[in-house]
Amino acid sequence: MTKDNVEAAPPTTLFLFGAHGDLVKRLLMPALYNLSRDGLLGNGVRIVGVDHNDATDAEFAGKLEAFLREQARSKGAEAPEKALDAKRWARLAKRISYIAGDFLDDSTYQHIKRTIEAHRSGNAVFYLATSPRFFADVVRRLGAAGLLSEEEGFRRVVIEKPFGSDLATAEALNACLLKEMSEKQIYRIDHYLGKETVQNILVSRFSNGLFEAFWNNHYIDHVQITAAETVGVETRGSFYDTTGALRDMVPNHLFQLLAMVAMEPPAAFGADAVRSEKAKVIGAIRPWSRTMALKNSVRGQYVEGKAGRKKLAGYRQEDRVDPTSTTETYVALKVMIDNWRWVGVPFYLRTGKRMSVRDTEIAICFKPAPYAQFRDTEVEKLKPNYLKIQIQPNEGMWFDLQAKRPGPKLEMQNVELGFAYKDFFEMQPSTGYETLIYDCLTGDQTLFQRADNIENGWRAVQPFLDAWREAGEVQEYAAGSDGPAAADDLLARDKREWHSIG
Ligand code: BG6
Repeated sequence: MTKDNVEAAPPTTLFLFGAHGDLVKRLLMPALYNLSRDGLLGNGVRIVGVDHNDATDAEFAGKLEAFLREQARSKGAEAPEKALDAKRWARLAKRISYIAGDFLDDSTYQHIKRTIEAHRSGNAVFYLATSPRFFADVVRRLGAAGLLSEEEGFRRVVIEKPFGSDLATAEALNACLLKEMSEKQIYRIDHYLGKETVQNILVSRFSNGLFEAFWNNHYIDHVQITAAETVGVETRGSFYDTTGALRDMVPNHLFQLLAMVAMEPPAAFGADAVRSEKAKVIGAIRPWSRTMALKNSVRGQYVEGKAGRKKLAGYRQEDRVDPTSTTETYVALKVMIDNWRWVGVPFYLRTGKRMSVRDTEIAICFKPAPYAQFRDTEVEKLKPNYLKIQIQPNEGMWFDLQAKRPGPKLEMQNVELGFAYKDFFEMQPSTGYETLIYDCLTGDQTLFQRADNIENGWRAVQPFLDAWREAGEVQEYAAGSDGPAAADDLLARDKREWHSIG
C-alpha cells in the first residue's frame, strides 16, 4: 500500500556516510521511518550506515531505535501516530546494516562494493551526512572504486550543506564532483526545499491566476524575507564560529525563498525548467561594490539577554565559541534584482539566532493606494497591504487588508484574509527530509540545487564576505530581542520598516 497512490521507491542500497552523526539520528532516520510508515520505501530499499566507529548491524540499529524512542517520548507522543510503532520499526530494522570503515581508506569502498553486489539491485545512493571536509575525498574514492559508474544501476550522491564556504570553494567542489560523475547523479540538499510551505509558494503563485497580475514592480513596493530563530548555537559552537549567519543561512535557505518568490514562471515543473529559472533570478542579484555591500548590510551578535524570566548567555559565552569572536549571529541585507520584473524593488533579508520568536516568513509589501479619497477624512495615512507567507511555525498565507472599523467615524483597522495549513490539511509528523529522500530515490532533482544555483548564490553574497573581511563592524543585540537597531536603520533610510515578526 502506498500513500495517495504514489509509487514506493525502487530497490536501492542507501549508504549513510556519517552514520553516527546527529543528522542521521535526528532527521534522516526519522524521515526513513516516516517514509516506511507511508508505504513509500519499497521492500528492496536497504539502509547501510557507514562510519569509523566499530558497531555490529544490531548495535547500530539498536542505537537508532533508542534515539527514536526517546525523541518520540520527549515530543509527548500522546497521539499514537507520533509514537514509534514496534512492529513497523522491527520491519525497517531488518533492512538496516552497518559498515565500520574510515572514509579515507580504500578498503571501506571495497566493502561497499561487496554490499551492493550482495543486494539484488545495483542501484545505490551515497548520502554524505559527514563533515564537509570529507565531501571531495569520499566522492573521489567512490569514483576510483568504480562505484559511480551506472552500468549495474543508478548511482547518486547526496551532498549536505555547507556546500563550500565562498564562491571559490564551491566552484572547486563542483569541479571535483563533476569530474567523477554527471550533474544528473548529484543531489545537493537544501532542507528548506523539503518544507511543504516552501514548495507551496510555487504552486500558489503559478496555479492561481490572480497572483501574476500584481507580482511585479508596478504593484510591489518591496519584499522582506525573515528567518528568525530563538535557539542559540547549541552544541555547534565551533562550526558556527567559523561560519556565521550569512554563510549558514543566506546563499542557501534565504535565497531559496527569494528564488521561489522572484523567479519567472518555469515552462514546466520539471527539474531543469525550475532550476534554470532559479539560477537566472539568483544570477540577477546585483553584485554590490564593497562600499555598497557595507552600506547595505548589518552584522549583529547576541549578547546576554532574556527570554521571559530565563536568562540567556551571550554568544561569546557559548560553548566552543572564541570569547573574543566577531562572528555574526544576525545579518540583515538589502539586495536588488536586476531584471524587468523586479527593477527598483528592494529585497530585504534578515536572519538571526536568539531572537524573540521563531518565525520564517516572506512579507510582500504592496505600493500604497492613492490617498486622494481620504484627504478630507481623519485618516492620516494609508498603511501598505502585505501578503505574508509564513513558512514556519504557523504555516500559511495571509493578506493584510485595511478595513473600516464599524461606527460613524471613518476609522481604519488592519484585518487579515488568510489560509492556515492546519485548517485544511492533516499534517503527518514529518522532518522535511521525507520528500527529499524519496525524490532522490526516485530520481527527481527538482528540489535539489544544481551547480549553477549554488555558485550564483555564493556569487551574490561574495561582495558582503569580501567587504566584511576588511571592515564590517558587528553590532550587539540582546538575546531574546528582535536584532540590532542598525537593522531598523537599514530600512528607515528607505522610509520603510520591518514587518513585525511572530
Ligand atoms: C541549518 C542551519 O541549515 O538550518 C542552522 O545550519 C539553522 O543554523 C537551521 O538553525 C534552520 O532550519 P529550520 O528548518 O529550523 O528553519
